[in-house]
Amino acid sequence: MKALQGKVAVVTGAASGLGRAMALAFAGEGMHVALADVDEANLARVADEVRARGVRAHARRVDVSRGEQLEALAQSTVAELGGAHVVCNNAGVSPLGAVWENTVADWQWTLGVNLWGVIHGVRAFAPRLLAQDEGHFVNTASVAGLISPPGMGAYNVSKHAVVALSESLYHDLAERGSRVGVSVLCPAYVPTAISDSERNRPAELANPRKEKSAEQLAKEAMLRKAVQSGKISAEEVAQAVVAAVKDERFYVLTHARIKPAIRARMEDILEERAPRNPLAL
Ligand SMILES: NC(=O)c1ccc[n+]([C@@H]2O[C@H](COP(=O)([O-])OP(=O)(O)OC[C@H]3O[C@@H](n4cnc5c(N)ncnc54)[C@H](O)[C@@H]3O)[C@@H](O)[C@H]2O)c1
Repeated sequence: MKALQGKVAVVTGAASGLGRAMALAFAGEGMHVALADVDEANLARVADEVRARGVRAHARRVDVSRGEQLEALAQSTVAELGGAHVVCNNAGVSPLGAVWENTVADWQWTLGVNLWGVIHGVRAFAPRLLAQDEGHFVNTASVAGLISPPGMGAYNVSKHAVVALSESLYHDLAERGSRVGVSVLCPAYVPTAISDSERNRPAELANPRKEKSAEQLAKEAMLRKAVQSGKISAEEVAQAVVAAVKDERFYVLTHARIKPAIRARMEDILEERAPRNPLAL
């Protein structure tokens, strides 16, 4: 989609981090922005930041794991802003733990936000984008959708699924000759609030209170440090997303230094050997 001015961007997880940066970057292109998140206080602040760029904003509390709430977002976006064009399915959470240690609640929460959030976003907006034969989906996966680092299996599973969903969506649209585009965003560490994602976990999916193991605490400290020392800012990632939408680029890999780990995984698959640890390469 080359011409963004005056069109409408929709961003989930817009109250913080990459979502906030994408909302502001699209506003900077002259797009009106619909902002969705469970964190209403910060969402209202970002909506004001969007309006300060001279465009309209529509902020709505949406839990992306709930399909009916995304459908309501699609309807209110069209009612308030007159349409929907660039849809960024971005909300995400990041619990840690070995595959067998994650509770059923951990899996439900992670897949509910990271995977079902994207499924519901595509289902809610695709009919509208197809009907107008104009638009672009940006699905936020992660490099964890292309490699599988240890200690974060639920997150890896959700992000590999988002890559598969996005590739399938791309083929389905192309097969129908649609002009609707797709990008899948696969960043490595970017300084945001992702390592505190428990802050927005719903009470019904809370884990029973118990002491965390020394290993879990060490992993959490490692993730926090890695995220905070990320060298590429949320604003730079958002600019890469804007460029990808304009250039109709599918894979958006913002961190070139991680590519050898992706290549190693592909080679391990093709050579049919056991996977190397991507964090030890
Ligand atoms: N920061 C990184 O290093 C990094 C790397 C790769 C991918 N990502 C992905 O980027 C996306 C954005 O994360 P971020 O880094 O900006 O983190 P962040 O925590 O700063 O922002 C995530 C936002 O999602 C919202 N959210 C959580 N659950 C929600 C729900 N059920 N419904 C609606 N909104 C919900 C949060 O309230 C928050 O505002 C996520 O999908 C994440 O997995 C982040």
